[in-house]
Amino acid sequence: MERKGNNPVNFGGISPAVIHMAVDDRDRNGTATVPGMRQLLPRPMDHVDPVTAHAAADRPPPAGRPWVMVNMVASADGATAVDGLSGSLGGDADRAVFSAIRAVADVVVAAAGTVRAEGYGPPRTSEENQRARVARGQEPLPRLAVVSRSLDLDPRSAMFTGGSQRPLVFTCETADPGRLDRLSSVAEVVVCSGTSVAPGEILAHLHGSGAQVVLVEGGPSLNGAFLGADLVDELDLTTSPALVGGGSARLVSGAPERVLPLSLAHLWEHEGVLLARYVRARVRSDR
Ligand SMILES: NC(=O)c1ccc[n+]([C@@H]2O[C@H](COP(=O)([O-])OP(=O)(O)OC[C@H]3O[C@@H](n4cnc5c(N)ncnc54)[C@H](OP(=O)(O)O)[C@@H]3O)[C@@H](O)[C@H]2O)c1
Repeated sequence: MERKGNNPVNFGGISPAVIHMAVDDRDRNGTATVPGMRQLLPRPMDHVDPVTAHAAADRPPPAGRPWVMVNMVASADGATAVDGLSGSLGGDADRAVFSAIRAVADVVVAAAGTVRAEGYGPPRTSEENQRARVARGQEPLPRLAVVSRSLDLDPRSAMFTGGSQRPLVFTCETADPGRLDRLSSVAEVVVCSGTSVAPGEILAHLHGSGAQVVLVEGGPSLNGAFLGADLVDELDLTTSPALVGGGSARLVSGAPERVLPLSLAHLWEHEGVLLARYVRARVRSDR
């Protein structure tokens, strides 16, 4: 999700114009500090630097696959989009955390519906973040991976032409051969077995190419596939202080019901926006 939107929800006293200025600034510079963002849990702190905190977080890759983070923004009543886009839900603090989480990912995975709706470009981050990534042994920028059954993706779009790395495209055996051919000139296309891309196949491929931390940016149906395969290690959830109604999907849709217990690793606040990091709850071995 690029978190773009034309009609920002005016929450926390921030005017839409201010939100847009902050968004544009962050898009250009990858800046990720927000004055007044504070930590509520696990212990109160008056100031939080999302980049430093996310870079320091523990994300041990499970055996044979990368660690999987899911990052989403929702309204207080669970809406994930307004007018079909997520950006107006997020605001300043969400943009900062979104940027900070991208800065630790080796690969950003997004479903084609989200990429089309939100007009994805290549992932960017500040030069400072790029230097920090290289110092940690990562590529300067995360690689983009798009998941699509139909391959209804424009090879001339910015995400394929505007970045320094060839994006990945994960598709199925049933993909149209002409589209597959056209996209292969601008992306590394991985054809997975069956009629739906299995998250396990995505992760196996990314693990094979050295990825240790993978960020899934939705949308809800792709999140559903990852939850359905029990392949979510972390949820970074921004909750905006707004009621939206409407019919947008929940954070996770299409997955059979299952309960994945989570632990709250931290909770931050800015202008009424809550920014939580949950990790998969460890199974207790003492009983
Ligand atoms: N609030 C947030 O943080 C957030 C984040 C992301 C998105 N969103 C919003 O969510 C909406 C889009 O979500 P969505 O659930 O409708 O769609 P989505 O999950 O973004 O995309 C669905 C499409 O992705 C492809 N896809 C997904 N899973 C696949 C799989 N396992 N195998 C093969 N292809 C797969 C298919 O693409 P093809 O059609 O190309 O075959 C499918 O039609 C947008 O309104 C967006 O703004 C919100």
